[in-house]
Amino acid sequence: MNIPGHVHSVFQSHFKSRPLIIRSPGRVNLIGEHTDYNEGFVLPAAVDKAAYVAMAPSDDAYCHWIASDLNDTFETRPDELTPSPKGWPNYLMGVVDQLRKAGYPAGAFNCVISSDVPVGAGMSSSAALECSVAFGLNQLHGWNIPKMELVKLAQKAENEFVGVKCGIMDQFASVFGKKDHVVRLDCRSLEYTYFPFLMDGIRIVLLDTGVKHSLADSEYNDRRAQCEEGVRVLQKHNPAIRSLRDAGREILLRHRREFDPLIFNRCMYVVEENARLLAACDDLGRGDMLSFGQRMYSSHNGLRDMYEVSCPELDYLVSFTITEEAVLGARMMGGGFGGCTINLVRDEAVDDLFERARKAYQIAMGRELKMYTGIIEDGTAVIEDAQF
Ligand code: GLA
Repeated sequence: MNIPGHVHSVFQSHFKSRPLIIRSPGRVNLIGEHTDYNEGFVLPAAVDKAAYVAMAPSDDAYCHWIASDLNDTFETRPDELTPSPKGWPNYLMGVVDQLRKAGYPAGAFNCVISSDVPVGAGMSSSAALECSVAFGLNQLHGWNIPKMELVKLAQKAENEFVGVKCGIMDQFASVFGKKDHVVRLDCRSLEYTYFPFLMDGIRIVLLDTGVKHSLADSEYNDRRAQCEEGVRVLQKHNPAIRSLRDAGREILLRHRREFDPLIFNRCMYVVEENARLLAACDDLGRGDMLSFGQRMYSSHNGLRDMYEVSCPELDYLVSFTITEEAVLGARMMGGGFGGCTINLVRDEAVDDLFERARKAYQIAMGRELKMYTGIIEDGTAVIEDAQF
């Protein structure tokens, strides 16, 4: 389906005016999981699946919103925002709320949204939606808010209005993604570096478990708290330690006995994952994708055994690939407890691998496996009429 064309025509037939159209993509993350809220590094890329919003100012005091994929509508005044049990309007209201709190008086606007980012697959469908609306309102009002500020604002919308204490990776990747590149973000300084991700002969393949365990959000917030607890132990020895970014293996090992074993494992995972990510970027620089892939497996082992955010379905899919010569690396992606695995697979083997994985997964887990191929695209942008 031509989604920009679709939101454009739904908008015109409902609101009888010309909308602005914004595309904001979902993301993959090659390595560096649960490191963003520990001021560490991440290595995401924006993909070819995106949220699209058609929007224009409203001519009354109300926002009129249409979620065309859900056949649902919502109305609110922009100055009287209350979280809705419908779910989806909260991502939009969260953004309006943050803009207003930051001194940008977002007025009433109409919009039609539609997205092909799979929901619950760990590809950041919510960040894509938040960023499309933040970018669009900035454009409509001519505020010229810098892109990094929009990213922070969209993240805060999710933290405060939606209530998930996510880090900055998803919103950053959606806005700053660049075609054919992965981007390393230092989540402390917010400096970022693009690395060409040469897809020559290798494809990013996402295998979707089709599950999202219900504890996912609360476990996510727990992991954050556990990392903070670890930092407090280290601070007794070195007050300059502000986050796990400041810690290394040595200091953790030296004080191991002072840690609850579970907290120790959480912290060790984060410290090792940051080191792995930096080494993986060196692999990219040398074009050594075999070594890069091995680090993805190590990342998965840490997420499964030390950080404990994997689940049997994800573990099954990663294990399935270990004996596959055409798979260079695989691991769970995103927050965990379901969603997708990310795999680097040799081009010619993708279809055959999927067919066998699908059958095996069906037998082992009794579920339908889905596959998405992650084509790396540009981040959030206005779509001109001529483009659809
Ligand atoms: C979710 C969050 C991100 C990040 C990942 C784990 O996607 O939204 O901020 O913490 O989990 O790496």
